[in-house]
Amino acid sequence: MIKHLNDIQDLSSDQIEQLITLAEDMMTDRAKYQSALAHRTLATLFFEPSTRTRLSFEAAMLELGGNVIGFADPNSSSATKGESVADTIRTVACYSDIIVMRHPKEGAPIAASLRSPVPIINAGDGGHHHPTQTLADLFTIRREKGRFEGLTVGLCGDLKFGRTVHSLIHAMARYEGVRFALISPQELRTPDYILEGLRARPNVSYEETDSLESVIPRLDILYMTRVQRERFFNEADYVRLKDSYILTLKTLADAKDSLTILHPLPRVNEIAVEVDDDPRACYFKQMYYGKVIRKALLATMLGVAL
Ligand code: CP
Repeated sequence: MIKHLNDIQDLSSDQIEQLITLAEDMMTDRAKYQSALAHRTLATLFFEPSTRTRLSFEAAMLELGGNVIGFADPNSSSATKGESVADTIRTVACYSDIIVMRHPKEGAPIAASLRSPVPIINAGDGGHHHPTQTLADLFTIRREKGRFEGLTVGLCGDLKFGRTVHSLIHAMARYEGVRFALISPQELRTPDYILEGLRARPNVSYEETDSLESVIPRLDILYMTRVQRERFFNEADYVRLKDSYILTLKTLADAKDSLTILHPLPRVNEIAVEVDDDPRACYFKQMYYGKVIRKALLATMLGVAL
């Protein structure tokens, strides 16, 4: 049973496997699940902008026969009158069976879960965690590679503020023989607390570099990320760093034919549009898989016997 999902580390490896198995079945036989969550209501509370996470959760709930309420803009909620997150959650829990929440403050979903009688799913909290993006990433990697073990995973871009990167490192570090190449400008390096976690795991290794070209021939997965403008303290630093990496067909010339290119999206400049038609580009499939694995997550967290 998954009570709340704040961090990908709230899930055991067995639970991740069960979600992937259920998602595979939901993809194969969509009709079988079309009423699985009938009469259940999902609330989506987005205190920060989103396209994929919010809409994929809503589509997931509707495809399972459930209902959706919520807000995409906190300015349309009583948060603007000064209502606390805890009180908002207590209110919305009266009208829903499960809550998906995105918030700019790190830790807000944990605070919410302490007050909530219904399950809370973290849809991204500041620069901290984004566990359901990680489920989408893992499902995509499993479908593309057939395994997690022994892969060389390059993470490129804003490794400091990129919450999707932090969650993915935590998730992939469980698997034997994974090698991480952490590719970023010096100022956007992976936080020390994440690196300490990697050093504590003898089953994995990592290297840090600012050169994508030097590591790309060795990569099985390349996970590009956007420089997170909304987390910068000043615009000048963002402008200076935003185009640190732009993946082009030229950059890919030395990459493996079997490389899988991922990106949580939205992208700004970091992947040239010309890459979209390369067979190694999997970031649009990744969005689709995100909806399917969220279906599996909602059904599992609501304890529906399938
Ligand atoms: N990947 C992701 O979280 O996208 P959105 O911000 O559009 O939800």
